[in-house]
Amino acid sequence: MPLVTSKEMFKKAYDGGYAIGAFNVNNMEIVQGITEAAGKLNAPVILQVSAGARKYAKHVYLTKLVEAAIADVDIPIVLHLDHGADFETCKSCIDGGFTSVMIDGSHHSFEDNIAVTKKVVEYAHERGVTVEGELGRLEGVEDDVKVSAEDSAYTRPEEVEEFVTRTGVDSLAIAIGTSHGAFKFKPGTKPQLRFDILEEVEKRLPGFPIVLHGASSVPQEYAEQINKYGGKMKDAIGVPEDMLRQAAKMAVCKINIDSDLRMAMTATLRKYFAEEPGEFDPRKYLGPARDAIREIVAHKIKNVLGCDGKA
Ligand code: G3H
Ligand code: 13P
Ligand code: ZN
Repeated sequence: MPLVTSKEMFKKAYDGGYAIGAFNVNNMEIVQGITEAAGKLNAPVILQVSAGARKYAKHVYLTKLVEAAIADVDIPIVLHLDHGADFETCKSCIDGGFTSVMIDGSHHSFEDNIAVTKKVVEYAHERGVTVEGELGRLEGVEDDVKVSAEDSAYTRPEEVEEFVTRTGVDSLAIAIGTSHGAFKFKPGTKPQLRFDILEEVEKRLPGFPIVLHGASSVPQEYAEQINKYGGKMKDAIGVPEDMLRQAAKMAVCKINIDSDLRMAMTATLRKYFAEEPGEFDPRKYLGPARDAIREIVAHKIKNVLGCDGKA
């Protein structure tokens, strides 16, 4: 099956009360782990590529890996640009075979965000590519940009209709208290999301797909395994999975997960090297790391997103 856009996928997800997992890809083992899990569970999936991933692996390697994945598994796959910083980056991905892009104008003023998002939408839609915009700012780290708690801001529901109407975006990322990375909430505090904002957005944009970034749940067993074998992930706290399930049943159609996959790989590799200090064949340790990705993605699909069997 050729790559698809997010249009049909989100419509079905909205109507069906589930969400699609958007997982970040950086190398072959990650692409294989994700798509093998999705293929086995007959689940649609979004493979997303950040600017950092393009820099690390090169655009052409990532698109060719995804091309290999669509030949290998028969499920709908979207190839999406994560956090496109400007028009040029989005254009380069649209011209380079992506079927969906995010233009992240959330750091701009409302008017400047609208201007750059609209420009991307016009270019993308003429070429059959879908666009995700963002309103509100998430705390945390993306590439080299760190957004502090003071600079983060919840989405203002009163702005969403104007933003969507004037830009023509196909989906909208909103800030309701999630954040990027593995340290999302202060230790000792109760993780909370602003479901009231999500509800208000849903009311104002009926039937419109909403996106949740920073949605890793930071499994404690991985954090403990990383700590046990010399890592430093004490106090790592994610978004509780029941909250993500609730969001998936609402207007949230796309849930972004990267940190959990990083943790799965890191926990596996740390344990492996502690137990097999003499091993130096990369296939011996990257194989189990890929297995761990497959396992965590299967868990998300079945227990968090609810998109198994929806391909
Ligand atoms: O939102 C950020 C994603 O986790 C991608 O991270 O920019 O380090 O590739 P990255
Ligand atoms: P996490 O850091 O919670 O995995 O979020 C990933 C993300 O939002 C990518 O855009
Ligand atoms: Zn993000």
